Amino acid sequence: MTYHIRIRDRQADKIYEADIEGDRYILESLELQGVDLPFACRNGACTACAMRVNSGKLDQHEVMGLSKSLQQEGYALICSSYALSDLDLETQDEDEVYQLQFGQFFAKRKRHWFQFAFPIDHD
Ligand code: FES
Repeated sequence: MTYHIRIRDRQADKIYEADIEGDRYILESLELQGVDLPFACRNGACTACAMRVNSGKLDQHEVMGLSKSLQQEGYALICSSYALSDLDLETQDEDEVYQLQFGQFFAKRKRHWFQFAFPIDHD
């Protein structure tokens, strides 16, 4: 099945529109049509390809690096997801999803400089 996708690249100040197949990863489908979007791992793990979902439905069952709650809040990793309807997406802020997902853990585990020092053995 073919779906229409609209992506607003907020950093590049561009809007892309394309028709994509529902049985191919969204990022791959767009790349085949010359659309250049951020990515890194291509494996649903790093969040570099994360998008805000303004409208539409995606199949994210292969995604590992995005919690179900963030998926329900309207985020998607397009390297590992498929369109289930027409979509309206926009790029995230730099590290937006990474901070939402992991930032809380780093804040709780604040370290001091001396905690990184390792004891040096002397004979
Ligand atoms: S490129 Fe890493 S999660 Fe999509």
